[in-house]
Order: sequence, then C-alpha cells, then structure tokens
Amino acid sequence: MSPRKKKILKRGKRYQRARRLPLIKKEEKYVPHILRGMKDILPADQIYWDFVLKKMEEAVRSYGFSKITLPILEDKKLFEKGTGRTTEIVEKQMFNFSDQSGTPIALRPEGTPQLVRAYIEQGMDNLPQPVKLYHFGQRFRYERPQSGRQREFWQFDIDILGSEKPIVDAEILLLLQNIFQELGLKINFEINSLGCENCRKVYRNKLVAYLGGRRNKLCPDCQKRLEVNPLRVLDCKEQTCQFFLSQSPQIIDWLCEECRAHFTRLLEYLDELEIIYSLNSRIVRGLDYYTKTVFEILPKRVDKQKDQQLEAQPAHEIVRGQIALGGGGRYDNLVEFLGGRSTPACGVALGLERIIEELKAQSAKIPKIKSPQIFVAQISEIARSTALKIFENLRQEGFRATHNLSKDSLKTQLEIANKLKVKFSLIIGHQEFLNKTVIIRDMNSGNQEIVDQAKIVREIKKRLK
Ligand code: HAM
Repeated sequence: MSPRKKKILKRGKRYQRARRLPLIKKEEKYVPHILRGMKDILPADQIYWDFVLKKMEEAVRSYGFSKITLPILEDKKLFEKGTGRTTEIVEKQMFNFSDQSGTPIALRPEGTPQLVRAYIEQGMDNLPQPVKLYHFGQRFRYERPQSGRQREFWQFDIDILGSEKPIVDAEILLLLQNIFQELGLKINFEINSLGCENCRKVYRNKLVAYLGGRRNKLCPDCQKRLEVNPLRVLDCKEQTCQFFLSQSPQIIDWLCEECRAHFTRLLEYLDELEIIYSLNSRIVRGLDYYTKTVFEILPKRVDKQKDQQLEAQPAHEIVRGQIALGGGGRYDNLVEFLGGRSTPACGVALGLERIIEELKAQSAKIPKIKSPQIFVAQISEIARSTALKIFENLRQEGFRATHNLSKDSLKTQLEIANKLKVKFSLIIGHQEFLNKTVIIRDMNSGNQEIVDQAKIVREIKKRLK
C-alpha cells in the first residue's frame, strides 16, 4: 500500500467519507490454507496409494490394457457435449475459466469424453479393434465437500473401445473383481441396463406417466428432473421420492429385443465366470452417454459377527451407505456423437480416495515399507561428506541405508538409529576420516569394530547375511 493510502486509512472512514474519497479497506492478512474440498496426500498415506496403483496397473497390464495420459485441462465444450449439458456435473460442478486467449476451459470433471476425444483425434480407430486403454489422474468437481466427496479426487479409468459384444462388459467386471480381490476388499457389483435410445424413450414415457401423477409429492429437485431428465429421479436419495420409486416401472421390463439379448447374455457370462452381482434397476448413472449396461461397485460391510446374518440378506441391503467405489458402463454412441466413426465402448472409473478409505475401514493388509538396515553417522564436520559418500556407496550396492547429516551429536544420531531399528550404525569421526576407516556398531549388542572404508561393503554383506 502506498504511503498516501496508508495515511488516509489511518485517518479513518469518517475522514474518507467527508472528503468523498473512495473507501480504502485494510489489507486482509493472508494466511495460506488449502482450498475447500482439496486434500494434501501426506507421506504416511503414500503407502496406500502406491499399493493401490501398483495392484491396479499390474492387473490391467496383465489383461492387455495400454496406458494413456491425458491433459488436466480441456475445452469446456467437450464436457458440455460429452458428459451432457443437463447433468449435475456440467450444470453445477465444473471448474471453468477462460484462458488468456479467451478460450473456455474446464478442469476435467471426468475422463471419458477426453479419452474419446483422444481416440478420435489420434486416429486410434485405425488400430486393430478393440482398443484397451487405462488412465488415471485428478478430476475436479465443485461439490459440497463431505466424507468420500472431494472437489479434487483421483480416478483410475479402464476402457475398451471398438466392440459391442457383451463379453467385453463381462471382461471388465471380471478384471474389477480381480482388482478388488488383490486389494483385499469385499465389494458388490450393482448392475442395470439403460437400453438404447429407442427403448429408453418408451420407458421414459412410462416413468413420466407414473411420476407425473405424484409430481407434487416429489422433492423440488425431482420436480425439475421430471422435466429435464426424468431418469435422474431414480437416483434421488430423498425418502419421499424413494417411497414412490419403489413402485415405479422398471426399465428392464421395457428393453427392446436387442438390448434385452445383450443384457441376458451378459448376466449369463457373469454366472459362468462366477462373478457375484445384484440387479438394481435404480442405477441410472449421472452422465448422459450411457447405453445398455451400467454398474456401480459398492463396498460390503465386513462385520465378522454379522457375517452370517448378512449372507442371508439381499446384496443391495448389505452395502455400506451409497458411497460407490467406482462406476461405469457402455457408451456405444459417444464416439460417433463426438465426431468419430460409430464405435461401441465400455468402461469404468474407480475412485482412488474412496478405495483407500475403504481399505482403512476394512483394515485390509498393506505391505509395509521395508525399514532401513544401516545408519551412517558422523562426528565431525570434516567427516560429513565421507559419510554421505559411504551412504551413496551402500545405496548403490542395494542396501537400505539412511543418515541424518544435519545432526552434530553422535548421541542424537544413535538415538535416531535406535528408533529406526537398524541392525548396524557406521560411525565416521575425525580419526576415522584421517585413517580412512569406519566404526561398525552392532546396534543390538553394542559391539564396535573398526574396518577400512574400502572394505565396508564386503563387511556389511557378511554381517547382514
Ligand atoms: P462417476 O460415477 O462419475 O463415473 O465416477 C466414478 C467414481 O469416481 C465414483 O464411483 C467415485 O468412486 C469416484 N468419485 C466421483 N466423484 C467423486 C468425488 N467428488 N470425490 C471422490 N470420489 C469421487 C465417471 O466418472 C465415468 N467417467 C466412469 C466411466 C469410465 N464410464 C466409462 N468409462
């Protein structure tokens, strides 16, 4: 703030008003803080992220999927057209801005339209079909933050483009079943079919006729949905709407012959592959592009005492809340709708934060990071770089070594080594520096031995055998 402005500010508001000066406000003190709905992923949590991503990547690669990395920013129109202008994501949740050239940009709220954009733009329709791709990264949705719902979150997407066959849907579900087994999580698939444009039109009319008579009893949001996108009413969590929906017509009963055959064949495959699922006619998904198969992955409670009771209940009753760990389905028209050739496709996105929360909730076993074996300590300034060199040498030889070269006191360094439960500490003082030696201290017995620096790797190998 300029000195003149500071002077005016000091004289107060009354002075500023009397002189008709534009009101100068005190500069707000800025305290750095994270944005609402965003999360720092701290080092202690990385073990979960590494574990989950490793398991997912291993699984998809073994199924022949290739990785694609897509930009975080896209043209806003891509999502308006791809995800759907009337969807909640586009209408209320997109982070939009214009860049310096005035182009409307969106932080990607989901990955499917951009995968399709890349498929068309990069000529992947000329590759042998189907094309099997996976990608992961941050997505952004301006939601009301709550447990399991963030404004920035990570998804792992798995998609197969270029086949209309129901065996593709089954393959994705089998792959997902394997991923969750590998992660040690109990889940349930909830499956539905949304049919094609033709049968959905018939069903939409039936649903509107049924709900229309009960319009005033629906929640205000559903009254609006009834006009714009009646199928979204099926998604409503309000109790009053849920009551009416329990008796509403079901889409499965209105599928055309082709869609029914696709769905029936998929369910047969699932039985043949021993994939456990439940049918849920209320799964409509909040995105415009889905056709035929849609599904969500819901966590199963793992309360051991209640296990027996739970087995006896229908699967949709034993899921915990409505926090889906992932969701997906077929999008047979999206490639053509975005300007490509007619290319049926099917895919899923897994919510990484929710999966990690569920791993914690279900106390799943996560492999621990291996702790260090050796601590390199130094006692004098002159020995510091030698200590760093020895550490580097050990690291290159494949030992798990560590150090804290910022500390001066040997006592403090050995306390750190003790806490880390290393087997050996290597100590380099003034004398050892001059003699080109190292003290090897056995941290259990406290025994110490002096060895040549040149022989340290051999000596450590011998002792760690
Ligand atoms: P979606 O159902 O919108 O589908 O998101 C998939 C998963 O992302 C959800 O089941 C959930 O685990 C996670 N997720 C969504 N929103 C949030 C949030 N605000 N905070 C934390 N996690 C969240 C799609 O995005 C489609 N693109 C899936 C797809 C891929 N369909 C075909 N291919």
